[in-house]
Amino acid sequence: MEELNSYRIIRSLARSGFEIFHEKGKMLLIFSKYFSVVHVWLIPNRYNIGIVNRTQSSGRKMTTVIDGKAFAVGLRKKIGDSVSSLINEHNIKPALAVVLVGEDPASQVYVRNKGKQTLEAGMDSIEHKLPVDTSEEDLLSLVDQLNNDPKINGILVQLPLPKQIDESRVINTISVEKDVDGFHIENVGKLSIGEESLVPCTPAGCIMLLKDHLGSLSGKNAVVVGRSNIVGKPVSMLLLKESCTVTITHSRTQDLPSVCREADILIAAVGVPEMIKGEWVKPGAVVIDVGINRVSTDEGKTKLVGDVDFKAAMEVAGAATPVPGGVGPMTIACLLRNTVIAACRQHNVEIPEAIKSF
Ligand code: GUN
Repeated sequence: MEELNSYRIIRSLARSGFEIFHEKGKMLLIFSKYFSVVHVWLIPNRYNIGIVNRTQSSGRKMTTVIDGKAFAVGLRKKIGDSVSSLINEHNIKPALAVVLVGEDPASQVYVRNKGKQTLEAGMDSIEHKLPVDTSEEDLLSLVDQLNNDPKINGILVQLPLPKQIDESRVINTISVEKDVDGFHIENVGKLSIGEESLVPCTPAGCIMLLKDHLGSLSGKNAVVVGRSNIVGKPVSMLLLKESCTVTITHSRTQDLPSVCREADILIAAVGVPEMIKGEWVKPGAVVIDVGINRVSTDEGKTKLVGDVDFKAAMEVAGAATPVPGGVGPMTIACLLRNTVIAACRQHNVEIPEAIKSF
């Protein structure tokens, strides 16, 4: 079965324009226009596929696919190690409470994944599932109870909430110290004046991937497409903190393609499938795609795409995050990191070095 699937992968790579170049001993080399070479290791009953970036024969540096999934695995390992040392050295086991109101299928998946990864990192996970007709008063009273529970270090209320509930009232009722989403107005304010705070997870993930790829971001022109409170605004604040020159764009921005073409760092967080075209990308730019959009395919199925036309961007950019497998996996990893940080601050314990900075 494994072998059959691997054959399918190679066949579909060949159909998508990859050139099968060389068979040498136990290694098959496939060249493509995106990556210089795809290595396929032939192991009995199984092919292992790896991608290597290299300079194209034309001289243009090959575009790097930023592997957020692999980065998140590494970050979660560091978080797991930090949790072990907190338990062993300080008898502190961080705990995250997640509240889900209603039965939105996407929210249910997110909440399940958050719970699973919290437990895998060695922390306690507490889930509260409330019916869709829960009153604002009842939700606020649960938040209050969690605020006052010393065993709980982080609280996340999954958004969106049903229409009878005022989201901002709920967010601002969560204790600032336990607000692992970083959405509380006080954490937003602290971020904007550069004070220590809990930082929103997806924006933190974007900065980690950027710094991992570029090193210092200082002096770079960063363009953010989208001005949401969850991504656009906080990621802009973080880029500013990294000494980027930041432009925030939105639906009223004039000549958006030209503005985007000025970006050394282009962050797409707009929620419109493949809105950002290849011609909008400055050659060599780093493109971070925060969009997760489900679209229909010609075969009557559905697939996930980002806000960037990935294939076209790969022709121009220096590096880009794919969807899925780019920014997405970073969000939960950063949520776990925030939970450990919150637990350390609440207990007056030093934050483990491995997860302290981005
Ligand atoms: N819904 C979609 N993304 C998020 C998130 O990052 N935090 C919360 N609380 N709800 C969400």
